[in-house]
Amino acid sequence: MKKITLLSVCLLALSMSSCKQDGMLPRDSRVSKLSQFDAQADEIIDQMTLEEKVAMLHGKHMFTSEGVPRLGIADMIYADGPFAIREEMEPHSWNSLHLTTDSSTFFPTGSALAATWSPELAYQYGKGMAVEARLRGKDMILGPAINIQRIPTGGRTYEYFSEDPFLSARLSVGYTLGVQDNGVAVCLKHYALNNQENNRGTVNVIASPRAMREIYLPPFEAAVVEGDAYGVMAAYNKVNGYWCSENDFLQNQVLRRDWGFKGMVISDWGGTHSTVDAINNGLNVEMPNQQYLGQALLDSVKAGAVSEETLNLRVKEILRVRFAIEPIPAEKANVELTAKPEQAQIAYDVAAKSIVLLKNESDLLPINFNKVRKIAVIGDNANRKMASGGVGAGAKAHREITPMEGLQNVIGDRAEIVFAQGYTIPVRNRWSRQPAQQDNSAQLREEAVKVAKDADLVLFIGGNNREIETEGSDRANIMLQGGQDELVKALAEANPNLVTVLVAAAPVDLNVVEAYSPTIVVSWFNGSQGGNALADVLTGKISPSGKLPFTYPVKLEDSPAYATGSYPQTDAPIAEDIFVALVGEKSQDELMNGSSNRTTALYAEDLLVGYRWFDTKNVRPMYPFGHGLSYTTFEYSDLKATKEKYSEKENIEVSFILKNTGKVDADEVVQLYVHRLDATVEWPYKELKAFDRVTVKAGESVEVNLSIPVEQLKYWSEEEYDWQLEHGNIELLLGSSSADIRLSTKVAI
Ligand code: BGC
Repeated sequence: MKKITLLSVCLLALSMSSCKQDGMLPRDSRVSKLSQFDAQADEIIDQMTLEEKVAMLHGKHMFTSEGVPRLGIADMIYADGPFAIREEMEPHSWNSLHLTTDSSTFFPTGSALAATWSPELAYQYGKGMAVEARLRGKDMILGPAINIQRIPTGGRTYEYFSEDPFLSARLSVGYTLGVQDNGVAVCLKHYALNNQENNRGTVNVIASPRAMREIYLPPFEAAVVEGDAYGVMAAYNKVNGYWCSENDFLQNQVLRRDWGFKGMVISDWGGTHSTVDAINNGLNVEMPNQQYLGQALLDSVKAGAVSEETLNLRVKEILRVRFAIEPIPAEKANVELTAKPEQAQIAYDVAAKSIVLLKNESDLLPINFNKVRKIAVIGDNANRKMASGGVGAGAKAHREITPMEGLQNVIGDRAEIVFAQGYTIPVRNRWSRQPAQQDNSAQLREEAVKVAKDADLVLFIGGNNREIETEGSDRANIMLQGGQDELVKALAEANPNLVTVLVAAAPVDLNVVEAYSPTIVVSWFNGSQGGNALADVLTGKISPSGKLPFTYPVKLEDSPAYATGSYPQTDAPIAEDIFVALVGEKSQDELMNGSSNRTTALYAEDLLVGYRWFDTKNVRPMYPFGHGLSYTTFEYSDLKATKEKYSEKENIEVSFILKNTGKVDADEVVQLYVHRLDATVEWPYKELKAFDRVTVKAGESVEVNLSIPVEQLKYWSEEEYDWQLEHGNIELLLGSSSADIRLSTKVAI
């Protein structure tokens, strides 16, 4: 029996620069590496003019802020992330420079990485991003994007990790360490509570202090406290009445005072709204313009409205980061192709471990080539590339293997592949005017049915695309578009051997697909190697091992923000997106003065985000958080805690035996949830508190150890303004998903 011991935990941690228990540090134990640059920064500040200081606090170019040229301090150069190093643009516009060297690796997007449930892979991902950023001369990656996926329709669900703070936090730390161990700074975005795209530029989010501390802030807290993140991007929205870019509570109190952040905060693009409040409340750099932190700031300092002491502090916070990151001379940047085979391998590894098998009822997968000689591949997403699209973050991908290319590469002459389009999705970008397209869905469906009838297996490759899931607007609903439901029905009637592959990075309504398709796979926006990874999973070269990082609701209205009526907001119309307005060279004032679009998002579900709601309110999901099947089966046994009672400073240590009872080697993601038995404080029914991805050979068993620091079981007391432990009995629920609990044990804390 193979033993997964503390040693393997430490080996991982060593690769992440220090050995720590289960990847978590106590909240108060951090000293930022940035502090070592204080004296050096002060020395520079002493020699700087007021003008030079102010010059550092706003955008110089679209993705650059100024250093101190006279004193040899280089500019800060930002790279739009979070899943690829964005192409080079003209300094003052969004026009591409059309270089031949700046094609980069397209890494699987956020929810795909999260579906691996692997901080180790998040570390590799961050490392890969950093390596490519260095080749391009970048100092800071604008990522990871780590907001909680509050609504299934959220336009950036594909970029964000998870609906769960603990899973998001572990991945955020992995990504952050991976980037910063390799010489580039991260910029955690979007701080904070940017959980919707509709009216993101104006919405005022009202959330309780406890929901903020326990649900929305932990990924940021962990990346700062454990990952020593050097940069943070203030979100566009307001939180509890104040713009994030001038939010004293978020920036001065929580980020800097409570978490000990020593780095720099930059605004989201066009997200600055004031001079005095922004600078006093913690903003370092207004990006990409200088409407508030340029001349207006200089004037404010001269007039005494902003103290020079505050100005010096903001400069010092930037200089610390500047000293921590070695600048790359311009002549050394961009001299060779950004994308490298090592990064393609990381992109493949992430994609391969992210793919989720939702169900496999007739064992159609893995494809049995003894029976299957002809495969009908149907659907727009079979050939669609997902590196760019919609508004905002995209990759100029060096390569992107589509599902069809992957299938052709991997299947070779083992079977004949025939293709039918099946459906198309009308271009829907809310902010661009497209001519109406002709509806040819009936004809496409008919052609597809013909192809399906004549095949041994049908692979329907549908889902969403980057126009549907996009920054700047949320989806109006989660229905599959372009007549995909009708198509699935027709395909199932033509051929029952139907596998549905959802290339979608957020939940979709599965009522029809579930009823008609015996096998369903989720394949995300899966990066440069996504097609190869998908083909390897479908053909059984590797067993699927991804687990859902969010809940698939039966219907949208079941999900908490919809059920409580707090989303969509009806108090204001949906305004043009702030970023679209910025690119269109409209001033922020033009957007802001249209005050009719000021909307309030009251987070009425409070702590009950995602599965916390479904569990606590007894609402059945379509597929639960943490769900994902394999080509093998796993047996869980012998769950033991080391003690019956744990004190505040201890870790709850549990062990159990995981046996692979099937015929293929595979990974399983084991999940440990905590349920409070005799609580007086209100808690969600259960919460994820530990997990591990474990590789087990067919027929073998391993002992798995999991650890939960009791510290992590505290709640945020609004009365005490502090973390408090509620003593009592808790149940530890061990399972293969949030709804598939295999073993449990009780301990006291
Ligand atoms: C996005 C950021 C992005 C920035 C620069 C904004 O619209 O919200 O995530 O980094 O644009 O492209």
